[in-house]
Amino acid sequence: MSIPTITLNNGVVMPQIGLGVYLTPAEQTAAAVASALAAGYRHIDTAAAYGNEAGVGQGIAQSGIDRAELFVTTKLWIADYGREATQRAFEDSLQKLGTDYLDLYLLHWPTPSNFEATMASWQLMEELRAHGRIRAIGVCNFTAEQIDTLIARTGIVPTVNQVELHPLFSQTGLQAANQARNIVTEAWSPLGGVYTNHPADPNQPIRLLDLPQLKELAAQYNKSPAQIVLRWHLQHGRVVIPKSVHAARMAENIDLFDFTLSDQHMAVLNALNQDQRGGPHPDQFDMDFLAAPQS
Ligand SMILES: NC(=O)c1ccc[n+]([C@@H]2O[C@H](COP(=O)([O-])OP(=O)(O)OC[C@H]3O[C@@H](n4cnc5c(N)ncnc54)[C@H](OP(=O)(O)O)[C@@H]3O)[C@@H](O)[C@H]2O)c1
Repeated sequence: MSIPTITLNNGVVMPQIGLGVYLTPAEQTAAAVASALAAGYRHIDTAAAYGNEAGVGQGIAQSGIDRAELFVTTKLWIADYGREATQRAFEDSLQKLGTDYLDLYLLHWPTPSNFEATMASWQLMEELRAHGRIRAIGVCNFTAEQIDTLIARTGIVPTVNQVELHPLFSQTGLQAANQARNIVTEAWSPLGGVYTNHPADPNQPIRLLDLPQLKELAAQYNKSPAQIVLRWHLQHGRVVIPKSVHAARMAENIDLFDFTLSDQHMAVLNALNQDQRGGPHPDQFDMDFLAAPQS
């Protein structure tokens, strides 16, 4: 199974599909990663905050695959923003992952309430990249305005903006803004994720993959609803990082290259957008937000 690649604005080549490991329990992570690598994945997306970087490292070691063939992403947690904390957190992530370089290192959230620290981290990440310890640096959950502020203040353009993006929250404006700045859009929760939402009634959550429109298309293409959604992302030119702990689903989630959604069917998925995010808003997310009781 050969997975297509996308070339980032600094020339680094990134596989368009990776395995996400958010909420993969630490004790299951090595097996999940080894299983994904055996199925043909070469790109893993973790974060210091997921508490499973060591499992990712073990899974990579178990696979026996040459490190140079892999694309490993991790993220700097917001509690570690600021120059010295970032240096420590970076070394800690490398040690847990059992590697001496990262392919992609991401700021996990913009944290506008602490933006000076965000920028200090960003500048250090660029220094680490310039010293060859990271191949590419990027951000998560940045709005277009936050990206422009980051670039204006530091002169460093991210390679990637990893954001919540799925048919219920399709963020077409943000993807266009990323593209205009030569930044690749990477979709988190590409399958609708662990979050569910309903525009009118949060007590009646809907699950993206259960929508009748997706079931109909799945039947028509002889694919699963997840494959229809992932194919929609690929045809929109995004990187996707579906999470699964099940080998059969991992295999399903990269088996996307023997069909093409028609323009008409792309439009069906485009029309599912409700402009409702499942995750937090990037303007609000910081350590105080995390400490506050969530409704
Ligand atoms: N930067 C950020 O702030 C941020 C935030 C959230 C997530 N992320 C990244 O994005 C990755 C993906 O997002 P996510 O984990 O929230 O959600 P997701 O990948 O959209 O969905 C994962 C859920 O879908 C299930 N699933 C996977 N494949 C399936 C299939 N073929 N059919 C039916 N169900 C399927 C998984 O269950 P099983 O595991 O039981 O198969 C899991 O419950 C994360 O793992 C993480 O790496 C980043």
